[in-house]
Amino acid sequence: PVLVVDFGAQYAQLIARRVREANVYSEIVPHTISADEVAAKNPAAIVLSGGPSSVYEPGSPDLDPAILQLGVPVMGICYGFQVMAKQLGGEVAKTGRREYGATTARIVGDGGSLLTDQPEIQITWMSHGDSVAKAPEGFDVLASTDDTPVAAFASDEKKLYGVQWHPEVKHSEFGQRVLENFLHRAAGIAPDWNSGSVIAEQVERIREQVGDARVICGLSGGVDSAVAAAIVHEAVGDQLVCVFVDHGLLRADERRQVEEDYVAATGIRLVTVDARQQFLDALSGVTDPETKRKIIGREFIRTFENAAEALVLEAQGEGEAVKFLVQGTLYPDVVESGGGTGTANIKSHHNVGGLPDDLEFELVEPLRTLFKDEVRAIGRELGLPEPIVARQPFPGPGLGIRIIGEVTEERLELLRQADAIVRHELTAAGLDAAIWQCPVVLLADVRSVGVQGDGRTYGHPIVLRPVSSEDAMTADWTRLPYDVLARISNRITNEVEGVNRVVLDVTSKPPGTIEWE
Ligand code: XMP
Repeated sequence: PVLVVDFGAQYAQLIARRVREANVYSEIVPHTISADEVAAKNPAAIVLSGGPSSVYEPGSPDLDPAILQLGVPVMGICYGFQVMAKQLGGEVAKTGRREYGATTARIVGDGGSLLTDQPEIQITWMSHGDSVAKAPEGFDVLASTDDTPVAAFASDEKKLYGVQWHPEVKHSEFGQRVLENFLHRAAGIAPDWNSGSVIAEQVERIREQVGDARVICGLSGGVDSAVAAAIVHEAVGDQLVCVFVDHGLLRADERRQVEEDYVAATGIRLVTVDARQQFLDALSGVTDPETKRKIIGREFIRTFENAAEALVLEAQGEGEAVKFLVQGTLYPDVVESGGGTGTANIKSHHNVGGLPDDLEFELVEPLRTLFKDEVRAIGRELGLPEPIVARQPFPGPGLGIRIIGEVTEERLELLRQADAIVRHELTAAGLDAAIWQCPVVLLADVRSVGVQGDGRTYGHPIVLRPVSSEDAMTADWTRLPYDVLARISNRITNEVEGVNRVVLDVTSKPPGTIEWE
């Protein structure tokens, strides 16, 4: 792999993604990793990330200096560039001048292997206070800016490279080219990592792990569990059985998409548990958001457990054992829970988990090394239906936390209609890629006066909550075109009986969470 050394903040994940976009597999490691540990991973190259610190701050993150002596090609970015400069005997100065945002960089000489095929002047994205004032002995300076004499350096002989700017952000015009030059040219790595090779590798690994035991998987209708199950099915066929719990809090058409389209595309064995009435009963009279979440989580686990237990017994009857449970864990979860500072969890998110003690499963996690966009690419490669592969995030508790007030079947139906209109219009306007997700919320306990036809109405408002985000940790409200908003508003108030007003949520996160409950 290519190791991306994380010096803090969220820079490393973006770099790791860009490396993979260059068709080279990457893994994130903490900056505390030792040279021996690095050597043990036998990396093809190393990228040092940026970070929020100054190399002169006491306690600022450092790197085992022996890593630069391993003979493995290294490229430092921003803070990583300065760490290299300092360790290799260059000079890092506090210039007192900050460069932040779009900055013009000029290539010096022929640009060396990193910058050779690029225009002499390019826009780069910078964010630094300190600067490299002098390159280490034997290094060529490849670029400079008005404020920074050494904005990039290289030693082809030592295979060590660095840039002051952030090639991983899209605002750096030739950023991806710089990374690719480092990976493909300087480090000589073949660009042969892609969704096809990931599937082949995972299929082999799953076969080895599972043998001829049976496997179960909970499908939620979301992209992660759908792709995870499809890979496992590719590996072990009908040793896999999927369980789909219909808790009645799904959106319009979601159950059909799983039961018909997904099953048709994959040939997966599916057991649907129709638990709609059970959930409605459990939620009856409940309005408090956290209580709703707890009830939905509890009922979900109970339902899944029962289904799993039935499958275990059935397999036993046939002289076989169910030993494995598939989970759609993604790489960001692994990175965030494995290393670094804890991430605050504001709401009690629920996933399939907490199985009873006498049901002991080993986990199969085929997406553990992948980012979301890679999971989608693999889903497409496996031929999954586009509405599932392209699905935007949808919370486990579903529409239950998008009805502000008590959840009833009537209100669910009303919300499903409004939500279907919103999704249809956003897709028709080509806005799906611009939006992270767009919760549609029913204010079931609020009523307002309206006039429709020639009569007075006293109906409920629907809230649109379109947000743009990279990772759902922070978000901004999406500036949807007025004509799209107008069409949505028009259709909802005309077509959804009981709704006479549509309002737009213009709150960023923070302070507002994406979901209303
Ligand atoms: P909030 O509302 O916390 O949402 O800003 C952040 C992201 O998480 C999704 N979300 C959930 N996903 N189970 C999930 O699987 C949950 O209980 C849950 N609650 C919120 C939300 O849709 C958004 O993408």
